[in-house]
Amino acid sequence: MTTLYFDTHLADDERRHRLYSGDVFVYSPRPSTRALTAHARELIEEAFRPLDPQQAQESLPVERFIEIVGPLKPRFIHHPRTLELLLDLLRDLGADMEKTYFDVPRMRVATSGGYLTAGVAYVLHPHRDIWYSSPPCQLNWWLPVYPFESESSFAFHPRYWNEPVKNSSDEYNHYQWNKVGRANAAKEVKADTRRQPKPLEPLELEPEIRVVCPPGGLILFSGAHLHSTVPNTSGRSRFSIDFRTAHLDELASIGGAPSLDRRCTGTTLFELRRASDLSPVPEEIIRLYDPSPPEDREGLVYKPPAAVVPAGM
Ligand SMILES: [Fe+2]
Repeated sequence: MTTLYFDTHLADDERRHRLYSGDVFVYSPRPSTRALTAHARELIEEAFRPLDPQQAQESLPVERFIEIVGPLKPRFIHHPRTLELLLDLLRDLGADMEKTYFDVPRMRVATSGGYLTAGVAYVLHPHRDIWYSSPPCQLNWWLPVYPFESESSFAFHPRYWNEPVKNSSDEYNHYQWNKVGRANAAKEVKADTRRQPKPLEPLELEPEIRVVCPPGGLILFSGAHLHSTVPNTSGRSRFSIDFRTAHLDELASIGGAPSLDRRCTGTTLFELRRASDLSPVPEEIIRLYDPSPPEDREGLVYKPPAAVVPAGM
């Protein structure tokens, strides 16, 4: 059973416990979430000006759209204000800053009507985030920047919370992905050729759960949930931001959600930072997830290209 909690009073320990049972937590917009999405909106609007970002796909050739979104994403990731606002949000939502590790927030664009479905706007097939080398205790924090509807949302497939799915995660190595995969995203226009872990059997995707909340609302869920992007037919591009966290207690005990069918290699833990002081995940904990990480740490962590402000914008 998947329970949806709205604006819960539960503290972080109890909330995590329920998230690891497949429950989903939804929060109404509040000052800390509004501040982060308002900041994202400003950067998006600055990049697309004078066009309305949600409608820009109607008047821009797809190559031009990519030219705008490509640099916009790292600009958001690297912006000093982004980090500040993310930490405010975690504090406000009751995270223990000493024990919570987070990675940089990403910005996603889901264009409408199949305008752009590869690379910078890749449409995600059904997947669990933990197939991408993240720990079973990973939590996903997802926030829409503009109003959206069911036709431009994402869906949970709760049937598979307790059931393994045949999948190709054994072909996924996170270090390899960082080296090759993401760096090529901006080059992918028509089809995405990056090797992603995928289900290898027909799935029963219904019943599915879609959660629709206002801009600045927050959907918090386990990275072990099978979920997929709904093909956007809303007529508008959807912009969202998301980031991941992991709690030291579950990292140390290799706890969290059930890990039924995860066979990827490498770990994302080199990318996480502690909320209180930005220190990395302790080496002994990382070794629980990858006993012999490569010596060359340079290649382990994805570094988004430096922020670029397009000329004339
Ligand atoms: Fe995902």
